[in-house]
Amino acid sequence: MEQRLLNKQILLGVTGGIAAYKSADLVRRLREVGAEVRVVMTEKAKEFITPLTMQAVSGNPVHDDLFDVHAEAAMGHIELARWADMVLVAPATADFIARLVGGEANDLLTTLCLATPAVIVVAPAMNQGMWKNTLTQDNVQALHQKKVHVFGPAEGNQACGDVGPGRMLEPTELVTRVCDVFATGRLAGRRVLITAGPTREMMDPVRYISNASSGKMGYALAVAAQEAGAVVTLVSGPVHLAKPSHVKTIDVVSAEDMFAAVMHEIENCDIFLSVAAVADYRCKKVATQKIKKESETLLVELERNPDIVAEVAKLKKKPYVIGFAAETENLLVNAKTKMQQKKLDMVVANQVGQADVGFDSDDNAATVLWDVGQKEFARMSKQKLARELVELIASKL
Ligand code: PMT
Repeated sequence: MEQRLLNKQILLGVTGGIAAYKSADLVRRLREVGAEVRVVMTEKAKEFITPLTMQAVSGNPVHDDLFDVHAEAAMGHIELARWADMVLVAPATADFIARLVGGEANDLLTTLCLATPAVIVVAPAMNQGMWKNTLTQDNVQALHQKKVHVFGPAEGNQACGDVGPGRMLEPTELVTRVCDVFATGRLAGRRVLITAGPTREMMDPVRYISNASSGKMGYALAVAAQEAGAVVTLVSGPVHLAKPSHVKTIDVVSAEDMFAAVMHEIENCDIFLSVAAVADYRCKKVATQKIKKESETLLVELERNPDIVAEVAKLKKKPYVIGFAAETENLLVNAKTKMQQKKLDMVVANQVGQADVGFDSDDNAATVLWDVGQKEFARMSKQKLARELVELIASKL
């Protein structure tokens, strides 16, 4: 199955309507396409479906109480609000919609909706008379104005015996619409080439010089660019990550291999993102047999590798070139110097040498610099940062 929601974190809010019985199937289908799902239930929702069912299908504990000390100790409500890439409320009752529009925070779900920076989607489900009521319609209009997505409702037979609009959309339809929200289309038709991961510079058949790049940042950018509609090629050093779907991935080992692959693929590219931690030097001589432990010291002579991003920036028909600067000190000054020396259009400066951001971590923080401006990105998941960067790059093209 196509993993269209791979790495997406969805907070599913379940409110108290008969359609709540479909929420378990919705969780299953969201997970089938790669999403991680956490469930928040209102008190009334628990009358229709048990938290145990939702825990079993989501694989995560269910959240239902704003003032639960144990839940707060594990993942507090603000943390949960930040964790989500999307808050999806399905089913959303007329009462919940009214409370959301009113900006209330009188239970866990409404509090999360107020606190989250994520996109909010509601899938209304209610009696057709309640749906048609002008009070509900005014509330739905207010949601549209607040950029809350409203999916549905569908028309048809209702649990109460009425016929008309008010049925929650089927889980398959909801999943398709959720996927479409993430596919922003900002890079539709653009060709993007990305390097990711480390390179390995062999000393002998079994030893090499390398670094701690995991490839997570570059792979996240490949996924984000693909979701934004770009045709993406990823040139990857040796990493332990699953290949992103719908992305042409070329595996390489050394900086010279990476250089050759990039130069082969660069023609007609609109954007080049140089995320790889490329070794600046390689061994001048690579021993054909394993080096023996014969002397107390061993001198290895190194020579310069090609600077891939600088070579791309020199091309006559050059794409928009974005480099990364991995710095342990003087982040912005060094990043600016790299941008000027390598003639980059944009540089993403990130602090490395710390445990929680940079190399091999799940999160990153960055300051992006370009000729006339800069933008800060506080610490967030690499997936989220990748989507923000894609948005920024798209706005500069
Ligand atoms: O892979 P992760 O574990 O997710 O970690 C992500 C990261 C920290 C590796 C990434 O965010 C990052 O900072 N990548 C750039 C690492 C790096 O090599 O930085 P640098 O400051 O040494 O190089 C500056 C730029 O020149 C980079 O865009 C680099 O790709 C490029 N370069 C460097 C040397 C070289 N020979 N050729 C190049 O193209």
